[in-house]
Amino acid sequence: MDRAQSSPVWPLSSSVIAAAFGYAVELASQWQGATAPNPPVACVLLDASGETLAAAAHQRAGGPHAEALAVSQCRANDTVHRIHTVVVTLEPCNHTGRTPACTGVILQTPARHIWIGARDPNPLVAGGGGNYLAHAGRSGHALADLDDPAAPKLAEAVTRLIAPFAKHVTTGKPWVTVKHALDRDGSMIPPAGQKTFTSDASLDLAHQLRKRADAVITGSGTILADAPQFTVRRLPDFPGKRRHLVILDRRGRVPPSYVEAAQARGFLVSIEADLATALTELGQAGCLEVLVEAGAELTQSILTSPLWDEHVLIRQHPDPTADDRVTVRYRTNSEPH
Ligand SMILES: NC(=O)c1ccc[n+]([C@@H]2O[C@H](COP(=O)([O-])OP(=O)(O)OC[C@H]3O[C@@H](n4cnc5c(N)ncnc54)[C@H](OP(=O)(O)O)[C@@H]3O)[C@@H](O)[C@H]2O)c1
Repeated sequence: MDRAQSSPVWPLSSSVIAAAFGYAVELASQWQGATAPNPPVACVLLDASGETLAAAAHQRAGGPHAEALAVSQCRANDTVHRIHTVVVTLEPCNHTGRTPACTGVILQTPARHIWIGARDPNPLVAGGGGNYLAHAGRSGHALADLDDPAAPKLAEAVTRLIAPFAKHVTTGKPWVTVKHALDRDGSMIPPAGQKTFTSDASLDLAHQLRKRADAVITGSGTILADAPQFTVRRLPDFPGKRRHLVILDRRGRVPPSYVEAAQARGFLVSIEADLATALTELGQAGCLEVLVEAGAELTQSILTSPLWDEHVLIRQHPDPTADDRVTVRYRTNSEPH
């Protein structure tokens, strides 16, 4: 700690902080879908010249938090004494759970400035970590106050990163992403003998969405038409990750053989009659984000309800040589659900 006393008190430039937030967002995004019921979080540690000393992301519930991992990288490199600024996508926790409080980890370093991407949305701890660090004499800064052209986009990104966690911690329900694809005639039905009509890039996107989800919800119509695998195949999945697969099937048309095969692929399968009940149960099981991959009937039924949060629409371009068009919209209706 003595060696730290010489490190300057003034904050680093806005562009250095923005770049560090960009790096942290990128790192945390790589672990979206791995951390439930915790949020994905990443932390970057900078020295007084703005050089990155360490960067790390939280990787699984029960494992070390991002701040602790980054500080341990500095310990391994003997650079703890150079830590001047902490940039973290989510407010550091101030309570000891399965791992020590991140505020304590930060206070063991000479960090003078703590930049926080988003406040902890947990109503029981909101403001706790930031205030604690401020009372301990460290300067706290919010990404929302960063004077840099990249700041609004970064703030949007950190908000989206923790949106599933924020919803879960405040309502007990998971974040619901609905993905659906339309061909150039506006139909969701693939040509006979095919399971899809979308481009390679859209298929990659679909598998990314699956990877970040803790559960997939579908309808009996999709199972009967396509018997989809619902596995993550176009990019590496998190080792050992088990997703829930919920099939809405009031008439009991899905054959047991499909359910058994899905279980053999690692899914925790349940057959449900009601979407709202299914979402409550998935929330209770600790799921943060669910992906709806269904046909027109169930997709329409969800999109006309208040149960969805994010809608990813993939549309085939009228020009067959052009790539699909992807639009993402968020539910702005604040009606509780
Ligand atoms: N383009 C795409 O993005 C995409 C994605 C997936 C599938 N598909 C295609 O969609 C076609 C199947 O379409 P689909 O409309 O029959 O499939 P679906 O929407 O996946 O399944 C419909 C079934 O879900 C059940 N369901 C349970 N609760 C429901 C609720 N609240 N609202 C609506 N349905 C509920 C109903 O069966 P019960 O009455 O028995 O409960 C209904 O018949 C296939 O050809 C498949 O290839 C396209």
